[in-house]
Amino acid sequence: MSTYIAKNVAALKAYMPGEQPQDRGIIKLNTNENPYPPSPQVTAALATFPAERLRLYPDPRAQALRRRIAALHKCRVEQVFAGNGSDEILALATRAFVENNGSIGYFEPSYSLYPVLAEIRGVTRRPVELAPDFAWRMPEDFCASLFLLTTPNAPTSIQYDRAAVTAFCDAFDGVVLLDEAYVDFARDNYMDLALAATNTNTLVMRTLSKSFSLAGLRLGYAIGPEPLISAMEKIKDSYNLDMLTQAVGLAALSDLEYMRANVRRIQATRERLLAALSAAGWRVLPSETNFLFARPPDGNAWAVFERLRAQKIFVRYFAGPRTGDYLRITIGADPEIDALLAAVG
Ligand SMILES: Cc1ncc(COP(=O)(O)O)c(C=O)c1O
Repeated sequence: MSTYIAKNVAALKAYMPGEQPQDRGIIKLNTNENPYPPSPQVTAALATFPAERLRLYPDPRAQALRRRIAALHKCRVEQVFAGNGSDEILALATRAFVENNGSIGYFEPSYSLYPVLAEIRGVTRRPVELAPDFAWRMPEDFCASLFLLTTPNAPTSIQYDRAAVTAFCDAFDGVVLLDEAYVDFARDNYMDLALAATNTNTLVMRTLSKSFSLAGLRLGYAIGPEPLISAMEKIKDSYNLDMLTQAVGLAALSDLEYMRANVRRIQATRERLLAALSAAGWRVLPSETNFLFARPPDGNAWAVFERLRAQKIFVRYFAGPRTGDYLRITIGADPEIDALLAAVG
């Protein structure tokens, strides 16, 4: 092993993103992308973007974009951090809010990037096992520097109760980052916790990758108390958001009606798939996201995963004692879901 590589990096088991196969004809239901294209305003922003401007550096503070986000959430621009995907914000949070001898908490199972970020940062991981049926478990006497809390959760698709999340944020003696990547597909959201005048420790994070159909763009944002936002501003790359991302993000966030219409279509397809799989004997968790977490009747999720893959239908499988009986299935367009149902039927 090379002596030039930091020990924690040498020992690191890297995060494994879902496959991005390049062949044609694949039904891709494995990375929670949106099956519908982004807003026509995005197409227009790209078509009219003056390439000549790329000579210059982008606005390091992304002011126009952050002003738009602040207007959307009725807060001050100083309460908004915009990042190169929400993954960048997660990485910055592990640097801004965790001392070298600190720790990072998260539920197990939740977003599988969290433990990897703790390893990269070289700090202690403090996972909290969810209750049976993947229900909320209040971490008692829990302490950590930062808690990464996905709600609705991934890969389980379940939205936690408002009372439980609020009580946790109030009691927790560290920064709580509520990762609301899927919240546009849910009935409720907890942005008000980040915006409450009394809040000092809670951030809410959103992404344009799912509901806005812009996973390829890389734009996410966090909202919360100014001291937490300015701590992340201090340590970010100067030009973390390129000019195209700023322009296209602004266009997408100016057409919420288009996004909401796509969300309604996806929710309708989700309920149809949930009913069909349940009728076929699958155990399907109640979803408030753009995916289902579902256990085939015999619990042999890996066999179904392989059978689907042989038919060029990609879904996601997470090995492990709690997740290994389930598949995570992204809600695609209706014909894609019909093909999936035919293949598992
Ligand atoms: C819970 C959760 N948080 C964050 C992300 C990352 O989103 P982004 O594309 O904004 O980096 C994902 C992506 O799958 C996710 O599932």
